[in-house]
Amino acid sequence: MAESLLVDANLSKEEKYKALLPQIEALTTGETDLIANISNLVAALRQGMGYFWVGVYFNKEGQLVLGPFQGPVACTRIPYHKGVCGACYTQQKTMLVPDVEAFPGHIACSSDSKSEIVLPAIKDGEVKLVLDVDSDKLNDFDEVDQQYLEQLMKLVESWY
Ligand code: SME
Repeated sequence: MAESLLVDANLSKEEKYKALLPQIEALTTGETDLIANISNLVAALRQGMGYFWVGVYFNKEGQLVLGPFQGPVACTRIPYHKGVCGACYTQQKTMLVPDVEAFPGHIACSSDSKSEIVLPAIKDGEVKLVLDVDSDKLNDFDEVDQQYLEQLMKLVESWY
């Protein structure tokens, strides 16, 4: 496996995801360590898509706890009922937030974060982790992100 990533910056968002997803699959195939795979997944997403912050929060110790991420330092623990991540956890569905200021209870880890998408990885009815992707631009996420990131979460779910 080549430990490098090829995603042309001039491609459309959809083309970038189409180039990126098979590479993430190749990068993680044959590796059984969850943290190693998630680390490469978030690094590949940040590098390939150029978003401001990409990381996961694990469901552990009765709350959401920061895991591998790429980007500025972030809050480490999020109660189940707080923020966009908490809403994703409790509703067990993708949260697409075009303007974080307009989301009641949004947790601002960085004032540079303007829009956000959070997706759950669910196994046996339980949210194992949430993937949080932040942008420093307003309204930067759409159904293209949702479609491809949900595909990526199926891969994450297969690791459990
Ligand atoms: N904004 C998130 C918190 C995590 S940081 O953005 C990295 C939330 O409201 O849950």
